[in-house]
Amino acid sequence: MTFDFDTPVEWRGTFSSKWDKLERVYGIPADEGLAMWVADMDFRTVPAVQERARRLVDQGAFTYYDNGAEYIGAITWWMQARHGWQVEPDWVFTTAGLVNAVGLCLDTFTEKGDGVVLFTPVYHAFARAIRAAGREVVECPLAREDGQYRMDFEAWDAQMTGAEKALILCSPHNPGGRVWTRAELQGVADFAKRHDLLLISDEIHHDLVYPGYQHIPMPLADPSVVDRLIMLTAPSKTFNVAGLHTGHVTIADPELRQRFGTRLRELSLAGNSMGQAVTAAAYSPEGAEWVDALMHYLDGNRALFEATIAEIPGLSAGRMEATYLSWVDFAGTGMERAEFTRRVEEEAKIATNHGPVFGTGGDSYLRFNIATRRALVEEACDRLRRAFADLQ
Ligand SMILES: Cc1ncc(COP(=O)(O)O)c(C=O)c1O
Repeated sequence: MTFDFDTPVEWRGTFSSKWDKLERVYGIPADEGLAMWVADMDFRTVPAVQERARRLVDQGAFTYYDNGAEYIGAITWWMQARHGWQVEPDWVFTTAGLVNAVGLCLDTFTEKGDGVVLFTPVYHAFARAIRAAGREVVECPLAREDGQYRMDFEAWDAQMTGAEKALILCSPHNPGGRVWTRAELQGVADFAKRHDLLLISDEIHHDLVYPGYQHIPMPLADPSVVDRLIMLTAPSKTFNVAGLHTGHVTIADPELRQRFGTRLRELSLAGNSMGQAVTAAAYSPEGAEWVDALMHYLDGNRALFEATIAEIPGLSAGRMEATYLSWVDFAGTGMERAEFTRRVEEEAKIATNHGPVFGTGGDSYLRFNIATRRALVEEACDRLRRAFADLQ
């Protein structure tokens, strides 16, 4: 089957946060702006997923819904087929997306005032959720070597005080685009054991891996860490269905599972029919074929965007190994943050995520979402070349 990622889809006027909040958030006129911020894609999802959602709509009512065996079966099939990870059906809980899952994990497994470790810069909502829960963010800065992030366990060991109770890992890494190696993941597992931390591994980007790289689920990297491991996965990034707010918390350890399940029941949290129907259709052989085609297409965007960044003196971007988020460093321009941001937003009219929200180490960066049709990536490249033409 062939899939089309090039035909323009008009997202303006659809209540898409990424496109319809452009003017309000950035002051960039909607008809001229390029939305390269919020992490969803400008592509329609898998035809079979659209068909499945349409069927639910055509039924004409949204009843209480139970496709439990089909839904969980699709999840366990996907994890085995795509990631070689064997998941038992009763290990899987449904949450309202993964930021919600993080909040629920903090609520269930930590206390007010506990430290929660982040390897920064990292996905900004983690710190927000930790602070909102009255826990302390403990930032452990990633080292930057040859334009890529590396773990720095020696420095982090020296930082630990004993007040830290949990660690949230982002694997693959947003915003750095790293696919952590087996040795790095084993290092994380050892670090969690050494400091007695619950390990929450957010693997939402696990399917968005470029040719030549392989994501390793944390329980496969180190099976001995599963007694302190919470796995977070979701179809949202992979299939462009984030608005359905459906995420999965997978817990192999019986005691942790029992505690988490009890908390969900206390809060009366349950999934929604559209999210469950769509997940069942997405985690399928047709879904797999679509993701392979998607990654092939995104790899072309990646190569083009990274080559353009490399051409502009003063700008640099590490090679993306995964995700559709390019983390661009403007430090080499010698400009103040306000100036390079102004050029990108006011001159190039491109909305990006600002580096500092990702924590320590993000100051000189902007994050660009390249999951759009090739023509718009080319347009973004032209606009960036022009906005920084004086440096060339
Ligand atoms: C690492 C990571 N976790 C979670 C999310 C968002 O999850 P959700 O929309 O399911 O709350 C994102 C979105 O970009 C992300 O990058």
